[in-house]
Amino acid sequence: MDWGLQNRLSRFISPKTGHTVMLAVDHGYFLGPTSMLERPGETITPLIPYADTIMLTRGVLRRCIDPCQEVPVVLRVSGGTSIVGGQLSNEGIMTCMDDAFRLNACGVALSIFVGTPHERVTLLNMSKLVDEGEERGMPVVAVTAVGKELGKRDARFLGLCCRIAAELGVHLVKTYYCDDFEKVVDGCPAPIVVAGGPKIPEKEALELTYKAIQGGAIGVDMGRNIWQSDNPIGMIKAVRAIVHDGANIREAITVLGSSQKGRSAKKSSKKKKK
Ligand code: R5P
Repeated sequence: MDWGLQNRLSRFISPKTGHTVMLAVDHGYFLGPTSMLERPGETITPLIPYADTIMLTRGVLRRCIDPCQEVPVVLRVSGGTSIVGGQLSNEGIMTCMDDAFRLNACGVALSIFVGTPHERVTLLNMSKLVDEGEERGMPVVAVTAVGKELGKRDARFLGLCCRIAAELGVHLVKTYYCDDFEKVVDGCPAPIVVAGGPKIPEKEALELTYKAIQGGAIGVDMGRNIWQSDNPIGMIKAVRAIVHDGANIREAITVLGSSQKGRSAKKSSKKKKK
C-alpha cells in the first residue's frame, strides 16, 4: 500500500489497537437539520476529543468546524438526493478529490446502493473513486446503504454489499450489525466498521457495539446513538472503551454512568482516551 494512503488510514484507524471510533455527522446531506444536528458545530465540537475521526460533508466542515481542531476528517463525497425526493439511491459524486485534499481529509466516503436501479451507477462511481484514491493516496470508505427500497438488513444482503465494495478495492467498509455478522466479516476481505442506525436505548447501542467488535468489526462509524443521547460524551467514551480498551457491556455502562449528562465537555474530562 502506498505510504501516503497508509499514513492517512493510520490517522484514524489506531495503529496501536487496529480499531477506530468514527463519529458520523453527515446526516444533513440528505436529511436536512435532523434532531441534534440543527447547529452542527455545537453538537460536534465537544465530541471531537473522543473521536478518531469525524465523518461529514465539506459544507459543515468549512462552516462549523474550527480548522485548528486536530481531528482527522473523513469527507462524505456522495449525495445529490434528499429524503423527500423519492430517489434516495440515485446518488452521484458531489465533492471532487482535489477538494478532499484541500480540506486535508484522511479519507473519502461514498454510498453504494446495491439492490436498487441505481446500483450500477453507484458502484461505478465507487470504482472511479478508488482509482483516484489509489493514484493519489486517499483511503476510500464504502457506505453500504440500507433502506426501505433495499434488501433486508440481514447477513446475506449485507454480506453481498460488503463483498462487492471490497472487490471494487475500497479500504474500509461501513455496514450494519446483523445476526450472523461473522459471516459478513468472513466474506469481506476489507476491514469493516458498523453504523449505529436510528436512536435506541444506550444499553442496546453498547450491546450492538460489543457484539460487532466480537464479530470482527474494527470499530464503529456511529452518529445518532451518540449525539442524540442525553449523555453524548458518556456514550462516545463508553463506545471507545469497548472498541479500543476491550471493555465488556457492564464496564462500558460504568463508563457511561461516570460521565455527567449534558452536551458540554466542560464538566467532563477533556483528555482523549487513546
Ligand atoms: C448514512 O449513510 C449516514 O451517512 C450516517 O453516517 C450513518 O447512517 C451512520 O450514522 P448512524 O450511526 O446515525 O446510523
